[in-house]
Amino acid sequence: MARCSVCGAPAVAYIRYQRRYLCRDHYLEFVESKVERAIMRHRLVGKGDRVLAAVSGGKDSSTLLAVLSRLSRRIGFHVVALYIHLGIYEYSEKSREASIRLASQLDVPLIVFDLNEVLGAGIPELAKASKRPPCSVCGMVKRYVINAAAVELGVDAVALGHNADDIAVYNLKSFLNQDLEAISKLGVKTESIPGVAVGRVRPLYYVYEKESFLYSLLAGLPFLHEECPFVERRQMEVELKETVNQLEDKRPGLKLQMVSKLAKRVEDYPKPKGSIGRCPSCGLLSSGGECSFCRVTRRALGRPMGPVVREWFRRRA
Ligand code: FES
Repeated sequence: MARCSVCGAPAVAYIRYQRRYLCRDHYLEFVESKVERAIMRHRLVGKGDRVLAAVSGGKDSSTLLAVLSRLSRRIGFHVVALYIHLGIYEYSEKSREASIRLASQLDVPLIVFDLNEVLGAGIPELAKASKRPPCSVCGMVKRYVINAAAVELGVDAVALGHNADDIAVYNLKSFLNQDLEAISKLGVKTESIPGVAVGRVRPLYYVYEKESFLYSLLAGLPFLHEECPFVERRQMEVELKETVNQLEDKRPGLKLQMVSKLAKRVEDYPKPKGSIGRCPSCGLLSSGGECSFCRVTRRALGRPMGPVVREWFRRRA
């Protein structure tokens, strides 16, 4: 039986790019110290800061919240979790359940924002009315609600559960499309724009997807194993993911190199053109004119709902 390279206890994981076996406890410590190093190196969160962690009920956001909650005691910051109920039938019910159990197990305050309750419509209705694919409307709605929550709650940063595999695949895809502006958005953090947008941080930037999965299993975290029924498997992304995994098999540590190099060079990529302004309806970030959230909700529900969302969070601040 393989033994932990640190303490000699039975091993549960082999880290190929470090040629180390780890037992359960040292595995959890390995992932936590990766996240802690990212936080320190990139100054993602500091002592006394308030961080809003977006949770979806999935494995990555469960790992994110668990690791942040442990590190918050060590570093001295505060974590609040936000779950957005998207109104996607059974899937949303189960993911809400998993998020509530997770937050209570970790003893982290959780805010549940229910689209159906606040707007009177969920993602299926908004997608139908706007004639856009559910995933694209969903991404836009989540970005809006998370930012509105962060602005109204007055937090210092929003933490997202993107892992190293997500970043490596999007980086490669954007490079193949020569979409250099998209690459400029793949850094470890974005800066806040006072009153308009709160900066986002990616504490799992250097954590592989399978490392995040194993962490959530070994730490006994509740998470939902099924995927959203609307998930779109874009063929190119599936193939790129396979390719990156095959390369990682041949060259252990390749994903880590990809994201480390990107983190160093991301500032050199051109930023998206267009002015950064305020949406005339809700006052939050817009790249010109009314923001997408206010536009889509105006079309679907007869009025822009950004102010309603802001007010909902303002009452909870
Ligand atoms: Fe957003 Fe599936 S979680 S469309």
